[in-house]
Amino acid sequence: MNKLDNKNILLGITGGIAAYKCAELTRLLKKQGANVQVVMTPAAEAFITPLTLQAVSGNPVRTQLLDPTAEAGMGHIELARWADLVVVAPASADFLARVVHGFANDLLTTICLATEAPIALAPAMNQAMWHNPITQANLAKIATYPHFLLWGPATGEQACGDNGQGRMLEPHALTDCVVQWAGVSITVTPSHSGPLAGKKVVITAGPTREAIDPVRYLSNQSSGKMGFALAEAAASAGAQVTLICGPTQQVAPSNITRIDVVSAQEMHAASLDAARQCDIFIGAAAVADFRPHTVAKQKIKKGAAASMQIELIKNPDIVADVAQLNPKPWVVGFAAETHDVIGYAKSKLQRKGLDMIIANDVSDPSIGFNGDNNAVTVIYNNASSDAEPRSLPENTKQALAAQLISLIAQAIPNRAPLNITSL
Ligand code: PMT
Repeated sequence: MNKLDNKNILLGITGGIAAYKCAELTRLLKKQGANVQVVMTPAAEAFITPLTLQAVSGNPVRTQLLDPTAEAGMGHIELARWADLVVVAPASADFLARVVHGFANDLLTTICLATEAPIALAPAMNQAMWHNPITQANLAKIATYPHFLLWGPATGEQACGDNGQGRMLEPHALTDCVVQWAGVSITVTPSHSGPLAGKKVVITAGPTREAIDPVRYLSNQSSGKMGFALAEAAASAGAQVTLICGPTQQVAPSNITRIDVVSAQEMHAASLDAARQCDIFIGAAAVADFRPHTVAKQKIKKGAAASMQIELIKNPDIVADVAQLNPKPWVVGFAAETHDVIGYAKSKLQRKGLDMIIANDVSDPSIGFNGDNNAVTVIYNNASSDAEPRSLPENTKQALAAQLISLIAQAIPNRAPLNITSL
């Protein structure tokens, strides 16, 4: 059995040099068992021919919205209904702008507006176009719609000679994303029973990025895997889950509300907002403690100086501020430490006013940050629970997440879910 058997993937191609990679992407998706139908914008035809994609997909390729022959066959609404997943690769800056504003001025945007399937966007554009505040504002808006997934872009050499963020993910990486999406959508079924049924859970995941100038930032090695695994485990336990994540390649299942952010300040604002309406808050993100005091408007030139200094200022502490809310949710933090792990974790538990802390020994590079496995110790605040610390030995992040959610469900006070309208 192939990983994408019986999955209907509608591949939308927009105008960008990376469009030439779509023949390979189509081939890889079909190799995994997917049915692939291709829709191209007029600009995409400048980079790859419909005939090539017809040959590799085995299906006629649609390019026109108002095409009487095609509408007599599989019309645009039928295509929108047929798709289990729409993948737009490459997604140009122009396409992102049009799709987020609800345009329906070509076949692909019309399908995106008409479909109830998730829409995965694989952006590709020049790095300056990607960093342009207008594109970033469009992406921030896209992130507010849970049916959009953002895959990429990668950083590297660009066709125009620039080097930076804006490369489309390679076909094999996009195929992996589709396979991961399919696995998640098959295995995670919304549960209306389970230990967290009726509870609202907010989880932070991944790194934050603190801008230095338009092309540089401070960040860390967090992949988001731990936070995403917790989100899936909480959803499987019946919770209504909101996942607030920094830049990550992870894919969230469609039964989780995903809010994408970039900086610690953005994560702070989104978290405080969501935490006011939740029962449990879990801070799994690796939030930058500091950010540059000023962000240069233009790329900093190295000049003749042998060294440079960047003044950093403290970021707000998200979990600590959530723990100060009144009423406050049940707050769980992580402590990523390289030495005296339990000692530092206990002091963070008290200092930040948390109900539970998950001590994470990150001195072993094979677990913790970015790995598939982790090993943790769960420490309770004695004011919230009299349970003893629990060591959970090395396991996959998915297995650990299921154990952690089960311990959290046992520890939370047996109170009625918060009534949002009364807040
Ligand atoms: O994302 P992965 O690659 O899967 O890796 C998982 C992980 C190692 C990142 C994760 O398991 C983990 O340990 N996350 C916390 C990392 C961290 O930054 O720890 P900390 O000790 O610096 O922070 C303590 C707690 O305060 C954390 O809950 C953190 O989310 C929170 N915090 C920190 C700073 C800040 N400004 N705001 C916060 O909310």
